[in-house]
Order: sequence, then C-alpha cells, then structure tokens
Amino acid sequence: MILRPTACHFMHYLAVLLSIVLIPTPSASSPTLKSPNIRRASSSASTRQRISINEGWRFWRSEQNPDNIAYDTRSDLSSHESLEVLKPWILPSANDFIASPAKHHVRPSDPPHTNVTYASLPFDDGEWERIDLPHDWAVQGPFYRGDNVPVTGGMGRLPVHGVGWYRRRFSVRPEDAGKKIYLEIDGAMSYAMVWLNGEIVGGWPFGYNSFQLDITPYLIAEDDNLLAIRVDNPTQSSRWYPGGGMYRNVWLTKVNPTHISQWGTFITTREVSAGSATLDLTVRVENKGEENCEVEVVTNVYEIDLDSGLKVEEKIAEFPRSTLDLEAGQTKSINTSTTVQNCLLWGPPPSQQPHMYVAITRLFCNNSTIDTYSTTFGIRTLEFHPMDGLLINNEPIRLQGVNQHHDLGALGAAFNLRAAQRQLEILRDLGCNAIRMAHNPPAPELLDLTDRMGFVVVDEIFDNWEREKTPNGFQLIFADWHEPDLRAFLRRDRNHPSIVAWSYGNEVGEQYTDEAGAALARTLRDLLREEDTTRPSTASMNYAKPDMPFPAVLDLISLNYQGEGIRDAPAYEHLEGIKTPPQYGVFHEAFPEKLVFSSESAASLSTRGTYLFPVTPEISSPVTDETGGDERGRRVSAYELYTSDFGASPDKVFGSQDRHPFVAGEFVWSGWDYLGEPTPYYSARSSYFGIIDLAGFKKDRYYLYQSRWRPDLKMAHILPHWNWPDRVGEVTPVHAFSAADEAELFLNGVSKGRLQKEEFTYRFRWDEVTYEPGELHVVTYKDGEPWANDTVRTTGEAAKLHLTADRTAILADGYDLAFIAVEVLDGEGELVRTADNAVTFSISGPGGIVATDNGDPADMVAFPSKERKLFGGLSLVIVKARKGEAGEIKVTASGDGLEDGEITVGSQRY
Ligand code: GAL
Repeated sequence: MILRPTACHFMHYLAVLLSIVLIPTPSASSPTLKSPNIRRASSSASTRQRISINEGWRFWRSEQNPDNIAYDTRSDLSSHESLEVLKPWILPSANDFIASPAKHHVRPSDPPHTNVTYASLPFDDGEWERIDLPHDWAVQGPFYRGDNVPVTGGMGRLPVHGVGWYRRRFSVRPEDAGKKIYLEIDGAMSYAMVWLNGEIVGGWPFGYNSFQLDITPYLIAEDDNLLAIRVDNPTQSSRWYPGGGMYRNVWLTKVNPTHISQWGTFITTREVSAGSATLDLTVRVENKGEENCEVEVVTNVYEIDLDSGLKVEEKIAEFPRSTLDLEAGQTKSINTSTTVQNCLLWGPPPSQQPHMYVAITRLFCNNSTIDTYSTTFGIRTLEFHPMDGLLINNEPIRLQGVNQHHDLGALGAAFNLRAAQRQLEILRDLGCNAIRMAHNPPAPELLDLTDRMGFVVVDEIFDNWEREKTPNGFQLIFADWHEPDLRAFLRRDRNHPSIVAWSYGNEVGEQYTDEAGAALARTLRDLLREEDTTRPSTASMNYAKPDMPFPAVLDLISLNYQGEGIRDAPAYEHLEGIKTPPQYGVFHEAFPEKLVFSSESAASLSTRGTYLFPVTPEISSPVTDETGGDERGRRVSAYELYTSDFGASPDKVFGSQDRHPFVAGEFVWSGWDYLGEPTPYYSARSSYFGIIDLAGFKKDRYYLYQSRWRPDLKMAHILPHWNWPDRVGEVTPVHAFSAADEAELFLNGVSKGRLQKEEFTYRFRWDEVTYEPGELHVVTYKDGEPWANDTVRTTGEAAKLHLTADRTAILADGYDLAFIAVEVLDGEGELVRTADNAVTFSISGPGGIVATDNGDPADMVAFPSKERKLFGGLSLVIVKARKGEAGEIKVTASGDGLEDGEITVGSQRY
C-alpha cells in the first residue's frame, strides 16, 4: 500500500510519529504542500527523537572581538593582547573523525580562564534581537558602497564580518533522563563554539560542515538549559559571499545511550541489474551507557514512491539479523548483505527515473526497540569511461552541468528548502542534469533534493588546502581539521545516490608545488578512499598539466577552463597572464584510462537585458570598457559573447567539446548568479557569471544552453529587445538561439536572410541588421521541417504592472515561500524590457515581504526594501506566510503612472 498525502497536517504528524520517510516534493505545481522540514525531523518518541530548535533564539553581533576569546590567534586579532585561545577545548569535537587514537585530542581538565559573560546563565539577553534559524546576519545589509569598506565586492559588500552570539533556552523532560542528547548543527559560519549552562562543550571551525556535540554531561535535568553559541567570521576569509551565523538547521537528537552513531550507516550496491541487486550494509553502534549490552540489529528495506516521496508500507527486503555484544563505552560495526529483486534503479531524467529506497534499522535490547534509524539510498551502477563518459545503469549520461554556490540570492546564505528547490527547478527546465557543489559541502537538504529530482552531483569540500587564496581561509586550520572535515563530509553524504564523484579541491595552490602538492593530494585521496571506495575522486585543475605529478593522483581529470584553452582565441591575444592551449587532447593522451570532463567552463559574463554596441564579430571576447562592458553602469552586454579574461563563451566551449567527443561534458561557471565575486566590476554586489540572474530570471544565455541541452525542444529565442529609439538607421545585430539547423529572420516582414548552422556554430547571427522600429520574427527549421518561431516587438510606454507567483498557495509553516515576479507591460500587454520604473510593494493578509530583488548585480538597495526599481522590465518579491495563519495574502505593486499589479497567494495552515 502507498500512503498518499491527502491531508498535509495529518501526514506531518504521522511522519513524525511513525518515522515515515518524507522527501520534499520537487514539483512546484504539485497540489500537495509539504513542510520543508519534515524530511529530517523524525522518529518514534520511545527511541530516537530529532527535534528542530530553529525557533526562539536571541542574537547579538559585534564587528570587533567583544569578549577577548577566539578559536585561535589570527593576524586580524593580534592587537588583543589578553586574548584567550579556546582551541584546546574545541579540537576534541573532531575525535570521532580522526582514525588514529594516538592523534585524538584530550580536553583540558580545567575550564578556560576567561569568564565568558555572553555564555553565562545570569546574563540578560533581553535586549538582543529575537530571531529564528536558519539565520544569516549579513543579508539584510545595507550594502557597503565605495572603497575602504570592511567587506569588499569579492565577499558581497554585506556585513558578514564580526562575532555573533546566539542564545536559546530549552528544557529536557523527565522521560529524557538517562538519554544521550546531541546538539546537531548543519553548518555555522564560522568557528562555532558552543556552551551549555556556562560550560564550554566544543565546536567546529569550518563553516560548511555539519557537526554534532554531545551535550548530555552539561545538562541540568528538568530545568531550563541555556545554549550559547559563538560564531566568528573574519574578513578576507572567502572568495565569495559566505553568509554569517547559524545559517542552517539546528536540531536536538535524543537517543538511548546505546544507539546508531552519527551518520552511522552506509549502504552500497553491487551486482546491480533491473532484475536484482545486492546491498551491503554497515551499521555502527555505540554503547555510551554504563552497562554492557547485547544488541540485535534489524534492517528492513522499503521502496519510496516516486510521486509522493513516501515510503511504501510493505517491505521488499530485509537484512539478516545480527547481534552485537557491546561493553560499556564500546563502539562496533556490523556488516551484512541482502538481495533486492525487481529493482527500480536511480537515474537522471528524462531517460531514467530517480527511484529511491529506505532502509529502516532498528536496534533491540531485551526485546524492546532502543533505536530506529532511516537511511535513504538508491540502486544504480556508475561507470567512468575514458571514451563514453559517465554511464549510469549502462547508459551514457552527458554531463550538462552547472556550478552552484551556496547562497540563495536575496535570502543570503540562510538555507531555505523552497528557494533551493526553485533554483533546481529552473535549472532542470534548462536541461541541466548535473550540479557541482562549488566549492563546499551544501546543506544536507539540498542533497535530498538532488536525489529526489535526479540531478547528478559532484560533491566538493575544499577551495584551498595549505596554500592560501585569502588571508583568513581554510589554510589556517588545515593541519588540525583536514582529516575530520573530510571524513565528516563523506560520512554525512555517502548514501546519496545523486553523488557520483567527490572533489577534495578546487584550483588549489598545491598544483604549483610539484611533488609536495601531489603528495598532499595523495594524502587526501587516500583518506577519502578509507571512507568510500564506490566513487571516484578528483580535484579540479586550472593549472596542472599532464606531465606534472598532480593529475596522476586523481581518479578523474577535471579541468577548469583549460580544456578549451585559456586566453586562447584571437580576441584574447593582447591580454597578459597565463595562456594555455586547449588541454583536452593532451590529458586524454597522457591518461587514456581516465575520464576527462570540464569541472568549470565558460566563466562568461552578462547582465540580463543589457545590450552594448558595437558587438564583437568574434565568437568569444574578453569584456573590456570598449567592447561588451559599461564600467559606469557596471553592466556587461547580454549578446552572450563576452567573458572573463580566462573564460570562453558558451559557443567556444561547445565547439571545443564537440571537437573532443571523449569529453564527458561540462559544469558551467555558473548556473545561477551568486553574491560576491562581481567580476569585472568589484564595486557591484553579485556575480555576472550566471546563466540565470540572482533573482531567478533567465538571461539570454539560458536559451543558448537550452538549445544544446534539450535538442528536442521546439524553441527559438531572439535577442536583443527591439526598443532602440536612438539607433534608428544603425547596425543592430540580431542573434537567435534554437536547436534548429536553419533560421530566417524577418524585420517588419522583410527577410534578413535564411541561415544554416555551420558545423561548430551554435547560434544564428544576423550582424548587419539596421534598426528600424517594428517587429522581428524568426522562423526556424530542423531537417527541412518547420521547428519553432519567436517574435520581438518594439513596445509602447510602460503602462501597467503584472504579477505572477510560482505557486498559488504556500504553507504557513514558517519556512515556505512564494516567489512573485513583477513585469511591466505596455498598453498591448507586451513586456517592456527597457523599463526601470521604481515600484513600491505592499502586502495585506497573513504574510510578509521577506526580500525583493531585480537581478541587477549593481543594484545596491538592501534586499528587505519594499521599494525597488525594475530592471529590464522585471523584479521579484519573496513572500512568507505568518506561521500558523491561514488566509489570503495579497501583494500589490505600484509605480508612478502605472496601473497597479496585484496577486493573491493562499496560505494554508500547517
Ligand atoms: C574559477 C574558480 C571559481 C570562480 C571562477 C570565476 O577559477 O574556481 O571559484 O572564481 O573562477 O571567477
């Protein structure tokens, strides 16, 4: 029987009570609303309980060190002479992830000297801000403008720096007596240190990893307990926007002292076919109690219904029962195997479906259940073939991938499941089937989404090792933390079927250090292999060459920009810097047994809806103030031919990949625009690299990739817009993107020529069109048959605002969001793509405006603002329902001289 989610409230409680696996729906159009957080809240009250403690925190931040403590000394803290270093109390938190007992850290027997007021019970935090998690303290801005600011363009010009304190009270119930209670933090940016009831518990410096702390020894039974968490975010610590604070979910997990370890299960598959598969299961059990105990381990396997995401009730397999004798304090693992018949395999759509299973492991002691633990997984085969590329279940799957940073645009780094899901939905529509998690572990829920939606993932952990990229980067903690960080990352993520490969480095400086760099790569690779032998690993290279020692260490050859060549086209000749001829061929020759792919391609640049003249006749050109760039407006032309100095246009990348058919595909830099790294205009706030802008609007480039990645889609797309009152009589090139092989352009009914796509060209371009107002119409053909058409018209004046929402109803659960697009139309209902009217938003009913944006990297108006100019005729409003309140949320947009736009979104009680 399949449990159908007919009533979402009921399902929620059922899910929590019965530990049913519920995975967030990937479809925005699905009529069923589910809570973003159900998936990770689980389990029967008598065994394991995982409780969200996102709500009800107090928060305070100081730009300067406010308390004379720090994880470690650091150059920016050198003026604090009396600084107390707390590293000795934090390092033991890593012990479960350090293999050699000899290297385990011993907690100092005494507490630190400093009396940390903010962590103490009597301190009155009543004046501090009330907040709920996930929380990013910086995203509300304001943006720093100008020079000599604490946070510059690279890190997003938002106030990410400083020390943040978070405090929250909670009580434990009498029935919790004797249990182990863990605090689980999915990620805190950064140098998290945790106190309970004034005593230091531990912490985790790397801001992107998830970690847990055993808080049991510090609890005060049946009373108010005070959690205090300190987060320290140095400036110059990142090459992009890191966000600030407790930006992911936080949980309390209560378990019997004898329980399955954190991330303590691992399921791998072998002898896989549609007929059957063998599953190998490891379960790690720890006895933290004072008595020896004999534990029976029972694991049943269930299918997860593809549509509903719910566990099917009937089990389809079980593992043989195993027994473990655990002395007090002991940890042991069982390894067992079973076979599943009639397998439904996990694979990426559209040719395959992402079928999933869940293994529910129960521990029994004296015939009663003492722990229940769910492991979702998929059954699939992976092959990395040097000629055929990635094969999933024996089918070659070309990597049509993008790189994604962790921020969610106007919502900052604070994780939100619906926002992440929306990012993936827009990418899926593009034909994208793969994501590289650049360059750090994502929120765990994002991997649930990629599993469920069938994206292929390269999961990446580090942007640098010992060699620095920014003064306060990971190199400061590499020596102590590379092993625990790597092992924690792998154990957390290894059951996700969407992950096909690991990356333990991006463009690391060790590429330059010959044997020493290769030796460090080998150390990391070997650690990785101790945790997972089922997937290959790699580190991306923008510099290392086939004859250097570095690539020999890697299982896969992952090239950043080198494949198609760096500064290797006529328009790049005048540039300084390393010039690299195309590398696909030489790597393939040197490593004929290894798969080669592009882990970063393109790095092309554009601002949505901006077209600058003259247009380069080349297929790829670096942006300069003379061509493609407008320094004053901080805009890059969207003819989609312009790139960073080291980049290449999509057209150039496609050509290079097609000339080297063994290349397994690419991960474009980047899928979405992101906060920070606003190359080439560092006085702006966000990137120009995205195929999709920061607000989620499609740039013209979207259609260029779509024409390649969805060749069966009958689509044609013309650029630019056709509102050029100042260009009458001037040459105004027209380009069209389509999977068609022929296209004819008409301007006011007059043909501008029928073009055929030549080999290794990927767009139709009519570069000599002279502008006159009216109508551009493109008619395309494939194999001689009509394919798809597109029309662009000169519009009238902006007349009215028009609102559309991504969904008609949202849940009032405190997390769910509606994304409302605002368009400005002329009297005929045509989008006016040149309009930049100022618009004011208002809202009534049980909801609030969280943020607004328009996707312009140079718009320095803070995200929470309810007034924002349209950009390219568009803007975005993000709305959240008030928790627990059902009703109709009405959003109105108004602007001078414009008819108001209005929309109603339902809010459903959770
Ligand atoms: C690469 C780097 C990315 C990003 C990109 C665009 O070199 O790996 O993180 O910086 O360039 O600038």
